[in-house]
Amino acid sequence: MQSNMKTPLLSSTPSDPSDSSAPPLSLSGPVVGIIGSGDFSRSLSIRLLSCGFRVVVGSRDPAGVGRGLFPEGVELRSQREAVEAAERLVFAAIYPEHYHTLLGLRDGLTGKVLVDVSNAKSLRGGGRQSNAERLAELFPMSSVVKGFNTVSAWALQVGAHDGSRQVLICSDCSASKASVLQLSRHLGFSPVDLGGLCASRDIEEAPLLLFPSWGGPMLTTFLLFLFFYAYNFMRHVLLPYLDKGENNFYQLPLVTVNETLPSVALVTLALVYLPGVFAAVLQLVRGTKYRRFPLWMDRWLCSRKQLGLLSFLCAVLHAVYSMCLTLRRAAGYTLLNAAYRQMKAGVENSWVEKQVWRSDLYLSSGILGFGVLALLAITSLPSVGNALTWREFTFVQSGLGYVALTLSVTHTLFFGWDFAFYPSSYPYFLPPVFLLSLVLPCVVLVGRILLALPCLTFRLTKIRRGWESRRHRPTHNPEPSVEVDPPQNFGDV
Ligand SMILES: Cc1cc2nc3c(=O)[nH]c(=O)nc-3n(C[C@H](O)[C@H](O)[C@H](O)COP(=O)(O)OP(=O)(O)OC[C@H]3O[C@@H](n4cnc5c(N)ncnc54)[C@H](O)[C@@H]3O)c2cc1C
Ligand SMILES: NC(=O)c1ccc[n+]([C@@H]2O[C@H](COP(=O)([O-])OP(=O)(O)OC[C@H]3O[C@@H](n4cnc5c(N)ncnc54)[C@H](OP(=O)(O)O)[C@@H]3O)[C@@H](O)[C@H]2O)c1
Ligand code: HEM
Repeated sequence: MQSNMKTPLLSSTPSDPSDSSAPPLSLSGPVVGIIGSGDFSRSLSIRLLSCGFRVVVGSRDPAGVGRGLFPEGVELRSQREAVEAAERLVFAAIYPEHYHTLLGLRDGLTGKVLVDVSNAKSLRGGGRQSNAERLAELFPMSSVVKGFNTVSAWALQVGAHDGSRQVLICSDCSASKASVLQLSRHLGFSPVDLGGLCASRDIEEAPLLLFPSWGGPMLTTFLLFLFFYAYNFMRHVLLPYLDKGENNFYQLPLVTVNETLPSVALVTLALVYLPGVFAAVLQLVRGTKYRRFPLWMDRWLCSRKQLGLLSFLCAVLHAVYSMCLTLRRAAGYTLLNAAYRQMKAGVENSWVEKQVWRSDLYLSSGILGFGVLALLAITSLPSVGNALTWREFTFVQSGLGYVALTLSVTHTLFFGWDFAFYPSSYPYFLPPVFLLSLVLPCVVLVGRILLALPCLTFRLTKIRRGWESRRHRPTHNPEPSVEVDPPQNFGDV
């Protein structure tokens, strides 16, 4: 970056400083103007100054601005002086409701680039005029560029290493936009060109969005949690209480939660891999990959990362809860009572080989499944994922993802052992919860195995490489009138 600083950055046509009534600025480097002396202005001026720019801040009352607020080297002037001193770029760092107060600066701003850094007040859904568009209407002789609003004053001050590096920029004037893109690169940010000024409607709302891609996955996970918790509550607590007066309410905070969380983790994990199977089946049935999936499926495919991470979260909680199961006072009492009953019955050895194998097998497969899931979660970190090739990422996410699902299903099957075959496991005609949670994962695994059949894999691979069955080829292409069998290898396609 230091070497970049030597090259001229902004305009090649600085305004004549003799026109300005302001005294000459002491530092060297392009002069950037900032209107407003608030938080954003202060942070931006610090950053600009440290990157070699001269900064002149324009305030309604420069004398009233505390001197210590701005670093040494930043010139505090009137708004007019700041605008006139700026060579090309002027930042409007005031709230949009005050933009009309700048109308008197129109002449000074003529031919200059006015950067609008404001955020939307509330989510407007993109239909209404943006602040930047309003500014452009007020200052038709300046070129307005939208940018930097997605960076907080804090991120500007601490530098781009600690905050978000991305700066979204748009404008109807490409030359002005190029200047701001270049400036943001010099300040250490990663600018993203989003096109014309109409994109400012979305850019202004970007900082207000609250986990936009997480809503559906979080709702799904929450509803699954509610369903399984209610089911476990009914089966283990409410019905035994109503039927036999058994008081199992003590199970609600820990045991019931630990029966619910793993079921949610398993079903959510199946929901990550189910759309891939649907996609493959649809492509096979349609004989083409060039037809769009229904909207709901597109959305589902796009929320697999979030679903996967939520499944991982439930698995983490389940693992921690499981490790605490034996620490509970209830577990101690149950053990003592069992030991007492055993003593009374004169049983010396209660070792049941089958149960020993069962517990070791289900714990081991659970731990392995958890470990593989953790790998998936690690690779979903952008810093790790970016270091992988596409093939490596697919291997982990798709290949190891199926390994994690298989291990989790194995864990649950070992846990369930042969209990599904005993009528006593169906109190009040309600099947055990592990059976319910196995349905979807088994559908996914069976679907995946069927798709691995050579005849289906062959056709699917061809379709994904662009081959289309005859009925989907464009009609304007002259085609032979006889139906041609699909080629037998890719060399023929
Ligand atoms: C802990 C955890 C973390 C995860 N992190 C990530 C992550 O960081 N990033 C991520 O992407 N996933 C993530 N996932 C989700 C999941 O692992 C991946 O989406 C995985 O690639 C799915 O593999 P798949 O074999 O089912 O489908 P894929 O191999 O992705 O897809 C199967 C086929 O479906 C078709 N297809 C898929 N998506 C589309 C689409 N949008 N439009 C048209 N066709 C499509 C393609 O033809 C593709 O070949 C995570 C999951 C977990 C459990
Ligand atoms: N703070 C952030 O983290 C952040 C991040 C992204 C974007 N932004 C955007 O940056 C802009 C400024 O935010 P801020 O946090 O710096 O606000 P701020 O601290 O309140 O500063 C706003 C400045 O506007 C000027 N001002 C106040 N009333 C005015 C009026 N009636 N007419 C003209 N000027 C007036 C004042 O400067 P003078 O008294 O010197 O004139 C004041 O210091 C906003 O549009 C905001 O959306 C802020
Ligand atoms: C460190 C890893 C893990 C450990 C130590 C562990 C431990 C356990 C324990 C002790 C039980 C029995 C709970 C009870 O007695 O009610 C159990 C059940 C279960 N586990 Fe795990 N597990 C792990 C990982 C996983 C993972 C990754 C999944 C799925 C994604 C999973 C899904 C299940 C399911 C569905 C049940 C059955 C729940 C029920 O029917 O009550 N587990 N696990």
